[in-house]
Amino acid sequence: MIRLRNVEKVFSGKTTVHALRGVDLEIVSGEIFGIIGQSGAGKSTLIRCINMLEKPDRGEVWVDGVLMNGLSDKDLRAARKGIGMIFQHFNLLSSRTVAENIAFPLELAHVPKQQIQKKVESLADLVGLADKLQAYPGQLSGGQKQRVGIARALATEPQILLCDEATSALDPETTSSVLQLLQQINQELNLTIVLITHEMAVIQEVCDRVAVLEDGLVQEIGAVVDVFTRPQTQATQRMLQGFVTPKMPSQLATAENTLLHLTFADQQVHQPIISQMIRRYGVDANILFGKIDQMKNASFGTLFVELSGPQPQIEEAVDFLRKNQVEVEVLS
Ligand SMILES: Nc1ncnc2c1ncn2[C@@H]1O[C@H](COP(=O)(O)OP(=O)(O)OP(=O)(O)O)[C@@H](O)[C@H]1O
Ligand SMILES: [Mg+2]
Repeated sequence: MIRLRNVEKVFSGKTTVHALRGVDLEIVSGEIFGIIGQSGAGKSTLIRCINMLEKPDRGEVWVDGVLMNGLSDKDLRAARKGIGMIFQHFNLLSSRTVAENIAFPLELAHVPKQQIQKKVESLADLVGLADKLQAYPGQLSGGQKQRVGIARALATEPQILLCDEATSALDPETTSSVLQLLQQINQELNLTIVLITHEMAVIQEVCDRVAVLEDGLVQEIGAVVDVFTRPQTQATQRMLQGFVTPKMPSQLATAENTLLHLTFADQQVHQPIISQMIRRYGVDANILFGKIDQMKNASFGTLFVELSGPQPQIEEAVDFLRKNQVEVEVLS
């Protein structure tokens, strides 16, 4: 478990930047936790506070019961072995082969050579690079480089993996394959993964929970499906604009009809709620737009429908939808 309590970080130079303004956060062991926010929101600063690459000015950072910002340098070095990290630009050593890059943290830890070789081979196998051990980073694609980064981060058998925009330099297909690998190691190694990104699609694909960071503060936190379908703050709504919910042109609404924006959670996606509503209340429904989004462990539907019929029936129909746990926004 990772717990941040009222974490503040100020960078003072020519100008003073209050990068984190009191962040409270709990990350449960074994989950894939996403942190999303615009550029400059404080994401990198926040994730770097977890392994003390950045020292908070105020507040507490707890990792598995250890107060990280209370440790001596020696104890911090030991604690960091339990926390791997990968980066947007991979940070590989270009003059070292893949094998030597993966071996690097083990050499620093004075692990015997024979053991290192074994470990490197099994890690290369895990990330799908067994045939590239003697290649140099310059000879690899972006996706392969990130796989080396992941193998290197896992060398000391950490319980936590921090990912700072790990897929932001990759094309969508390569991003998907790296995300699949992260999900695989999350399950096989029971690894806690903290993933920061500015891409909603990355969160949607792999995260269990997400925190929305804006201006150095956590604005919203929850299960991805909840935050994406029922955003509670303007920060989240801004970020989601055009991603999950398309904007319907308001001129579609007329005096004679009622335009509804419906959001269905997991269970209702499979229920014939709309046809039941039409039959029961004798209203007409014209579907303008619909889609089903797939989250990591859930799906949810978005539907724009135009209802026409006598007003009392329409009101009853809307009530019926709400009683069936459909989120209804009346647009006109
Ligand atoms: N070492 C530093 N010295 C001075 N200011 C810094 C330093 N690191 C970060 N900042 C400032 O702190 C704020 C938060 O930066 P941070 O890198 O955490 O944002 P971010 O959310 O990761 O952004 P991006 O998506 O662009 O990576 C920014 O205003 C940034 O300029
Ligand atoms: Mg950053």
